[in-house]
Amino acid sequence: MKVHSGIKSIPLTLRMNDAVNQEQARTKHMDKLIATGGKPLMGEISISGAKNAALPLMISSLLTREATVISNVPHLNDITTTMELLGQMGVELQVDEKMAIEVNASTLNSAVAPYGLVKTMRASILVLGPLLARYGRAEVSLPGGCAIGSRPVNLHLKGLEAMGTDIIFEGGYIKAKAKRLKGTRIFMDMISVTGTENLMMAATLAKGTTVIENAAKEPEIVDLASALNEMGARIEGAGTDQIVIDGVEELGGTHHRVIPDRIEAGTFLLAALVSGGKIKLRDVQPHHMEAVLGKLVEAGAVIEVGEDWVSLESPEDPIQPVGIRTSPYPGFPTDMQAQFVLLNSVADGISTVVETVFENRFMHIHELRRMGANIELDGNTAVIQGVSQLNGAPVMATDLRASACLVLAGLIAQGETTIDRIYHIDRGYECIDEKLAQIGASIKRIPGGSFANHVDKSL
Ligand code: UD1
Repeated sequence: MKVHSGIKSIPLTLRMNDAVNQEQARTKHMDKLIATGGKPLMGEISISGAKNAALPLMISSLLTREATVISNVPHLNDITTTMELLGQMGVELQVDEKMAIEVNASTLNSAVAPYGLVKTMRASILVLGPLLARYGRAEVSLPGGCAIGSRPVNLHLKGLEAMGTDIIFEGGYIKAKAKRLKGTRIFMDMISVTGTENLMMAATLAKGTTVIENAAKEPEIVDLASALNEMGARIEGAGTDQIVIDGVEELGGTHHRVIPDRIEAGTFLLAALVSGGKIKLRDVQPHHMEAVLGKLVEAGAVIEVGEDWVSLESPEDPIQPVGIRTSPYPGFPTDMQAQFVLLNSVADGISTVVETVFENRFMHIHELRRMGANIELDGNTAVIQGVSQLNGAPVMATDLRASACLVLAGLIAQGETTIDRIYHIDRGYECIDEKLAQIGASIKRIPGGSFANHVDKSL
């Protein structure tokens, strides 16, 4: 396996059974960020490819014996985990210095997604549909709970069963078998992003037509459908709530560029606004970000958009509080909820933030309170009274987006904030500390080893 990386800060670790990499992974687990507040963020940055688009795109290569090339892949731990997952199935992967990944699944020799990988990345469940469609069997560890709620996979399984899959649960694993999958009509009880992707991939090689009703409409679904169609699939309606897939006999390779990360883009815009700065983002698709841009304008930001750029200028007046209710695309994304809780925490007035997609996705609130935020929590609703200043404190990241919120909080708080357990942030934000430093943030990464005497034993 050939691995090159142009980015120095996060090594791509493919072979975790290698002792050196295990040690690297162990100490990376303990990295911390130290942020000092007070500097307005100013400048230009490029937005990376979307993690949530890249993961299913890489996994979709399981559907063909031909090589596929996915470019503009972000340099993230979840990508490394996906490479490891595919690699241990016998798939060949090559990465070039610009993070174009060539995936060749003609050498696949195992249809097992083991617990060790699935527990670090729930999106591993996405291998289930493609493996069943092309190989007729798959064993995937049940993901279990996670910090933002129970996150079941029943909709993935129900849809695959409707297409003719036999599923049993044994030893914590989903063991699935099918002859050739059969097209059918599937109604998704809840709108699920990876559920829709899993079933859409499975249906590309099924016999007959599959109709997915109440499908998710996220841009990442549209991107996956485009790549699958380039590979020879016949998918219509991606981006609407009804996706129709006519099964074909086989798929070929493709070269596909991942769409920009709308959540990374939103996070940087918000960082500029709460710090009183001015920023221009390149390599974005503003039309994927309408709900978030609308809320930033409501908060007082001056936003300009071009075809592939967005700029934001902070107002002279105080930030206005904004009401937020998360919902599936094109609604306000749950992946931006934590960041907007921070914005409201320093806004001029009272606001409510309602989380409707995930239970228990308010862990950041307890940490923000320790920095001086005034937030009351009532079930899935946070009532926030803005304060004039947050104060630096040692805080703990609990999940990917919560950790982004805490980093931004550290950049506007008085004094120093140490953010622990930032392995969460490295799962989803490419070199966030380097990019923030590039626009003037005072932030540094402390490698795990430097804190050897202060290691939290629960890690
Ligand atoms: C994806 C995104 C994640 C984002 C989320 C919601 C990826 C890799 N991750 O996660 O960043 O926060 O969409 O936009 O794309 N549900 C069930 N049964 C199922 C599946 C889902 O009840 O079988 C529920 C979930 O518990 C949740 C809701 O449906 O309450 C939406 O979850 P889903 O869209 O599936 O999230 P993910 O695809 O896991």
